[in-house]
Amino acid sequence: MPAPSLRRGWQASHITAMIKVGFVSTVSVQRLSKIFLPRGAAPVAALDSIDVDIADGEFLSIIGPSGCGKSTLLHILAGLEKPTSGEVLLDGRRIEGPGSDRVVMFQEYGLYPWMSVVQNIEFGLKAKGLPAQQRREQVTYFVNLVGLKGFEDRYPHEISGGMKQRVSLARALAPDPKIVLMDEPFAALDSLTRDILQEEILRIWGKLRRTFVLITHNIDEAIFLGDRVLIMTPRPGRIKEVLSIDLPRPRAASLRASNRQFLDYRVYLASRLHEERLRAPLQGAT
Ligand SMILES: Nc1ncnc2c1ncn2[C@@H]1O[C@H](COP(=O)(O)OP(=O)(O)OP(=O)(O)O)[C@@H](O)[C@H]1O
Ligand SMILES: [Mg+2]
Repeated sequence: MPAPSLRRGWQASHITAMIKVGFVSTVSVQRLSKIFLPRGAAPVAALDSIDVDIADGEFLSIIGPSGCGKSTLLHILAGLEKPTSGEVLLDGRRIEGPGSDRVVMFQEYGLYPWMSVVQNIEFGLKAKGLPAQQRREQVTYFVNLVGLKGFEDRYPHEISGGMKQRVSLARALAPDPKIVLMDEPFAALDSLTRDILQEEILRIWGKLRRTFVLITHNIDEAIFLGDRVLIMTPRPGRIKEVLSIDLPRPRAASLRASNRQFLDYRVYLASRLHEERLRAPLQGAT
């Protein structure tokens, strides 16, 4: 049985988050559906009538079994995929395609192997047309922010997976996007590196206060980072629940091991995901 603070449906947690950040909604997902029509196969209802608002500066974690539409939702937010019906508004304007106000980080680092760390980070700034002096300042700031000082001239094959993901993060953040969309960015990393990067992400998010949306299969990660955790359910992909994470910030790493409320959230989310396994036992993941 979850603690009383966990027994809340979408409405209550939604309102809590809105109050916390002053009722400013950056992203509004409205009656969003996506049906894929694969050639020679049955249509796939990847998303069905998704409604959610994401507040300005919020950290939203998304969790759910494999195939429930998490990446599809993220791709639509990024403008990389078009919805079948419904819409996503960003500051009141419909998202029609990719834009410099949004950036996506994937599990694959997506770095250019022929570019050094600084060249990779600088890439988006060049594309934005920033003059050289400003670019240099921005790159230095972000190299320091993600802890890559001393590695500026290394190439991707000369650094570890964790460092590559730091470069991806710096490259994503340098052009100053409004929204950072992350699709399992730490899934390929060992658990210690992952823990460290989660803490780094929190520190950076606290500093920059951009809106972050993170897809993860890791319950602890979803809780540790999120203001809210959105749980999805598959076939068709729907929102099962949005859970408000009422843990104080800044959040210390020790929360994960010893905080009673954190452990309650963990147990509760595990049981919600377990229900999904019982519903569709062959789905695997999560
Ligand atoms: N381009 C596509 N064409 C056809 N079906 C697709 C396409 N992209 C995704 N799907 C289907 O849509 C559903 C949702 O896929 P999606 O990748 O969004 O799931 P997910 O929650 O991100 O899964 P995972 O946790 O495994 O990454 C799945 O059934 C998937 O097979
Ligand atoms: Mg996915």
